[in-house]
Amino acid sequence: MPPPDAAADWTIPQRWDAYTPQHHARWRFLYDRQLRLLSGRAVPEFLEGVRLLDMGEGVPDFARLSERLAKRTGWHVVAVPGLVPEDVFFHHLAHRRFPAGTFLRGPHELDYLEAPDVFHDVFGHVPLLTHPVFADYLQAYGQGGLRSIRFGALDKLARLYWYTVEFGLIATPEGLRIYGAGILSSAGESRYALESPIPRRLAFDLERVMRTPYRIDSFQDLYFVIASFDDLLERTLRTDFAPLYARLEALPDLSVTDLLPTDRIIEAGRTGAASGHPTCSPALLPN
Ligand code: PHE
Ligand code: FE
Repeated sequence: MPPPDAAADWTIPQRWDAYTPQHHARWRFLYDRQLRLLSGRAVPEFLEGVRLLDMGEGVPDFARLSERLAKRTGWHVVAVPGLVPEDVFFHHLAHRRFPAGTFLRGPHELDYLEAPDVFHDVFGHVPLLTHPVFADYLQAYGQGGLRSIRFGALDKLARLYWYTVEFGLIATPEGLRIYGAGILSSAGESRYALESPIPRRLAFDLERVMRTPYRIDSFQDLYFVIASFDDLLERTLRTDFAPLYARLEALPDLSVTDLLPTDRIIEAGRTGAASGHPTCSPALLPN
């Protein structure tokens, strides 16, 4: 059941008028800092989306933002109270509505955040929704999410979201770039994800991604790199996940330090070196 002040689909009024000058100044601080960091690091389609949406003045009014966004791809941004149940979330995505929180992080938590806020949700996620292929991917993900619930495979599909929409990297002719919102909205991780020698970077592989649990409490140890948005959409949309879910039932989950013979390593990283885990567990060697 949605909270008493929310609609049946869990949406609430954003109450844009309730943001104070301090909120807007804090948004501008975060926005300016990220944009400085992201030139040459974010995928060009994201930076183009930021330009198109024009949200540098302060916390955006979702209604006006949605107007600009809908003109491009038909997506809207709707306000929700923080996290919503999975099926509600998928249902919104399947209908081209991006659910965003309205709360802005406090002045003492500009760098590290326990739960997503409006800066992560809107600055991180919304610009790429101006890109037609990515816009289609996220809608298809929502439809696939509703389907995954029926297969009891939600945890597997959630990993796909994590390693693409939240923490995805993309190969471009100029080098690796960021497209995942969890990185794009983080000052520390936008440098770490591309430049740190610690994390491992592997070419995107759908089945591999769905076997890999993720950590939510620190920078990632492992990133997956897509070749292009077209390639990502193609691989996910044209694959029927039902047989994949069935196969995954029988396969063990991987740890971030495991390497498969089929993994295409982009950068090996030092993941696992410090923790003393084997980098290739015997159970995973080809037989
Ligand atoms: N093709 C997937 C399925 O059969 C759905 C999906 C599409 C999931 C795009 C993610 C992204 O369930
Ligand atoms: Fe997010």
